[in-house]
Amino acid sequence: MDDRKLLALANEARGNAYCPYSGFAVGAALLCADGSVFTGCNVENAAYGPSICAERTAIFKAISEGHRDFAKLAVTCESDHCRPCGVCRQVMFEHAPDLEILMGNPSGDYVRTTARDLLPDGFML
Ligand code: THU
Repeated sequence: MDDRKLLALANEARGNAYCPYSGFAVGAALLCADGSVFTGCNVENAAYGPSICAERTAIFKAISEGHRDFAKLAVTCESDHCRPCGVCRQVMFEHAPDLEILMGNPSGDYVRTTARDLLPDGFML
């Protein structure tokens, strides 16, 4: 699947964000090696701690459906290029250190990187 399509799916998922506390909607779309795609959005909570980012929603959806071979993840939010948080970087690194990441925004601009580049010298058991 090409980058533009994956970014469009991330942007569509962004529309489902539940973010009444931050008002900051994020969407993600994870492409697996077999071509399947899992999308995610951020889901916040009044207690704050239980909130989850869009990227981890997509990754955990995939894992819970039996998919662990990840190829590419697109993430979009209303900023220049959506930068995954540190917790999401650690989760990406655990499952797919060479995962391609497309950091985009709703206007379609994006920057390409990898999980390894986002978390240099990352922790792994
Ligand atoms: N957020 C994400 O969904 N992904 C990120 O990589 C950064 C932050 C969410 C968490 C929270 O719901 C909102 O954006 C503001 O931090």
